[in-house]
Amino acid sequence: MIDKFSRKIDYLRVSVTDRCNLRCVYCMPEQGIIHKQPADILSFEQIYKIVKAAAALGVEKVRITGGEPLVRKDLPLLIRKLRTIDGLKEICLTTNGVYLSDYASALKEAGLDRINVSLDSLNPERFREITRGGSLEAALKGIDAALEAGLSALKINAVLLKDFNSDEVIDFAFLTKARPLQVRFIEYMPTGVNHFSYDKSFFSAQTAKAICGGLGELIPLDSCQTGPAEIFKIKGFSGTLGFISPISRPFCGSCNKLRLTSDGRLRNCLHSAKTIDLKKALYGDNPEVILSGLIAQAIELKPKAHNLSQEGPGRGDFSDYASAAEAENFSMCQIGG
Ligand code: GTP
Ligand code: 5AD
Ligand code: SF4
Repeated sequence: MIDKFSRKIDYLRVSVTDRCNLRCVYCMPEQGIIHKQPADILSFEQIYKIVKAAAALGVEKVRITGGEPLVRKDLPLLIRKLRTIDGLKEICLTTNGVYLSDYASALKEAGLDRINVSLDSLNPERFREITRGGSLEAALKGIDAALEAGLSALKINAVLLKDFNSDEVIDFAFLTKARPLQVRFIEYMPTGVNHFSYDKSFFSAQTAKAICGGLGELIPLDSCQTGPAEIFKIKGFSGTLGFISPISRPFCGSCNKLRLTSDGRLRNCLHSAKTIDLKKALYGDNPEVILSGLIAQAIELKPKAHNLSQEGPGRGDFSDYASAAEAENFSMCQIGG
């Protein structure tokens, strides 16, 4: 699957729920968002059919996201089912880690390859504040459980927020000193509505990189550069550091992703609300053929780049929302990053 800008599309992110056990200040309003009705959420069987069709077209990597994917009971059953699909080389999960200690070994046993944990502060009070009530202890316990279960290539994702956690860059970098983790600093991106002021809170990943440079020489690891992160190792440290700069150094030119929302819509860019409904295809005749055609159509329409650096209301393309209320409710938790 090569799109019209010569990008190879081989990565599908699958959001299995729009619900979350946390309320991160930059992601959701305090009261939460208006959730999809349970009947609208894809079943594991439906997700399997869609992923199978995508794999037949060339998707090799699937990442399960949410909301928080582990709020969906029996997630290991989905992993086990996806594992049977020919052509899938990697099945990964992005989680906030809070429920991970309960599931890590079952996920590993089901065939999960890798986990990325979102963790924005190493200070318990601040973690509680950023997540509006979450427990840092539970998230750290989840990370330990994943490592113990053998889910070893673990990454920690920290969204950088100026005057909130930007003073923790060094503490995060130190996590890689003794453990073979990858810590990645992610630039805060504007979503449909910024519940946490984007303009005041943006902190560049390049600044975080300069701060980390104070700890020692940053050795670039070009061979690991398959995703959006620039990856480095500090001499003498066991783990690595990644810098994801969607705003200051956009990586749209090498984007290889499609995203499936929990209600079965295929999204060809994180920042475009233009979606293609795949769920409909599951109920008709010849679902494999129809799905295949719709996935190919999403690739054909994949935009060249996002417009997030643009100021004002045109930032991001949310014109496909059914109503202003729906656009107002757009949150990263509906897409899973
Ligand atoms: P790996 O498979 O480990 O490389 O993970 P990943 O970076 O593909 O997935 P993860 O869920 O850890 O993503 C990290 C974060 O990077 C996301 O939550 C987003 O905030 C950001 N990100 C990832 N992909 C994109 C993208 O295509 N565009 C933009 N703008 N941001 C992205
Ligand atoms: N900007 C950057 N990353 C975000 N995430 C959620 N909202 C934003 C945002 N506005 C990240 C989370 C997690 C993933 C699911 O998306 O931290 O890593
Ligand atoms: Fe939940 Fe992730 Fe959004 Fe935080 S960023 S509220 S953990 S979906």
